[in-house]
Amino acid sequence: MTALTIPGLDQAPTTNARLLTWVQEVAELTTPDRVVWVDGSEEESARINAALVEAGTFVPLKKKPNSYWAASDPNDVARVEERTFICSVDPADSGPTNNWMEPAEMKAIMLDLYRGCMRGRTMYVIPFCMGPLSADKPMLGVEITDSEYVVASMRIMTRMGEKALARFTDDAEFVQALHSVGAPLEPGQADVPWPCNDTKYITHFPEERTIWSFGSGYGGNALLGKKCYSLRIASVMARDEGWLAEHMLILKLISPENKVHYIAAAFPSACGKTNLAMLEPTIPGWRVETLGDDIAWMRFGEDGRLYAVNPEYGFFGVAPGTDYHTNPNAMRTIERGNSVFTNVALTDDGDIWWEGMGEKPAHLTSWKKQDWTPESTELSSHPNSRYCTPMQQCPILAPEWDDPKGVPISAIFFGGRRATTVPLITESRDWQHGVFMGATLSSETTAAAVGQVGVVRRDPMAMLPFIGYHAGDYFNHWIQLGKNANAEKLPKIFYVNWFRRGDDKRFLWPGFGENSRVLKWAIERIEGKAAAEETPIGHVPTPADLDLSGLDAPAEDIAAALDFDAEEWRAELPLIEQWFTKIGDKLPTSLRDEFEALKQRLG
Ligand code: GTP
Ligand code: MN
Ligand code: MN
Repeated sequence: MTALTIPGLDQAPTTNARLLTWVQEVAELTTPDRVVWVDGSEEESARINAALVEAGTFVPLKKKPNSYWAASDPNDVARVEERTFICSVDPADSGPTNNWMEPAEMKAIMLDLYRGCMRGRTMYVIPFCMGPLSADKPMLGVEITDSEYVVASMRIMTRMGEKALARFTDDAEFVQALHSVGAPLEPGQADVPWPCNDTKYITHFPEERTIWSFGSGYGGNALLGKKCYSLRIASVMARDEGWLAEHMLILKLISPENKVHYIAAAFPSACGKTNLAMLEPTIPGWRVETLGDDIAWMRFGEDGRLYAVNPEYGFFGVAPGTDYHTNPNAMRTIERGNSVFTNVALTDDGDIWWEGMGEKPAHLTSWKKQDWTPESTELSSHPNSRYCTPMQQCPILAPEWDDPKGVPISAIFFGGRRATTVPLITESRDWQHGVFMGATLSSETTAAAVGQVGVVRRDPMAMLPFIGYHAGDYFNHWIQLGKNANAEKLPKIFYVNWFRRGDDKRFLWPGFGENSRVLKWAIERIEGKAAAEETPIGHVPTPADLDLSGLDAPAEDIAAALDFDAEEWRAELPLIEQWFTKIGDKLPTSLRDEFEALKQRLG
């Protein structure tokens, strides 16, 4: 070995041999100027934030304590699905919905990219834990990154630093997550506020529980504890160990009689999870508390019920459209400060603004760092701009949010963004039918990923970009879990759509806080208290079955939002057929049976 001396490399606060070896190897490969072992302290955070301000990445907000505005490179604003790979040993384990490359081939490409890629920068070693630190088996990870922005964001989004490292025994297992913005600095070369590389790779080696990311600083590509670990790698762990890692919010619904139900809901990116997770019910006496807004890890408890834990520690929420009307609790969370806002607009008095946040200010600095006025033809904020804020600041956080046992789930909602066809809510007949609903879930694409917006695609369980293995095996995993469980204790599965539109493109259902009426109906179905109509697609409420008291919306819109239209569903069948053909041989026969039965019922 070369006698490489990189300042900081020898200051490891751990004796975990695998961690020490890996850090040494990465340092020798990427040749940073120094190594910092991240401890997660206040002093360190202040240092990192000051460095980001100095570099021009962060602008401190005058109007919010310890909060910062950041603008990314205009070409680094969303997840890059085309550049995301599942490099399983066997291509059949990656499947038809993922990009695949042979692990050795991918590693060769990436080792070339990583060689010397941290020159002129600091390499940070971030120990972190997804989910409660007090878990019997804490879900550990280490992210190595050359981005201060990533360090600052990981501090909000994960339990990290010393408190996580304390759970690293000498032989502790952890997910290795390597990240570089891919922008080495030559001696004397000035840095840019948002370093990144035109070449981007977000790669996963599922058998090795390893993540390699290169070229992007954007959250979903760079904060590797989130989508990469907690969904793609964790879904593989979950397959192997008999649990579920899902793109789901977790909320606690409390009735006027103080009865508690926990609900998990999977909607594709930018389709309403964060909004529903923090919902303020419009129906008197009902309350919602939040446990998570994006990811749920669910395991069966000893009592046979399915328990959910949120692995995250913060919210990385879509900014545009968020305000005191649509999501007051998100607004209250960010008002408390300690947040990072990326690709929103900056006001002249040092606050943030985005489309949907009330009156347009006379002048702004746009996310592209240009002057913006109400006459501007461009948006002030990128549609996928985000706030990153600590979960513990949420005023309606459920007290049990950090309980490693999790919370028992009564209902699972699958939902998409569909202008037509899919009714406001449909109840599945049983688990298998519910899995069919999830497996055929469809949604219009949004700005959360690079690519065309508004195209209907299948997004199974809202996991299309996040299943770390073959989608057919994933469906089978869902089916098998249901078969092995006590059917009485399984969550009831529902399919929802807040986004159905009328002829003039207006939303038929007012949504947001009014969605509490839909939650209430679902819970009352579980308790055997609410009525529904049986249709070929499942049980659907009529307007009389929903609590619509005090709702200010045209009756014909509500009826149209709830409507089951056989004609529209018949038009859906070839799309499902196409999707199932794409899944191929690994499609569980039970889902094929569900599809045949649906065709029969539709006539
Ligand atoms: P990710 O964080 O990317 O996984 O997405 P998310 O599912 O958390 O999406 P989010 O809650 O941030 O919703 C984003 C978009 O959905 C915004 O444009 C919201 O205005 C819109 N939205 C959320 N709930 C509703 C609703 O009930 N009705 C309507 N019409 N729009 C909604
Ligand atoms: Mn998400
Ligand atoms: Mn969200």
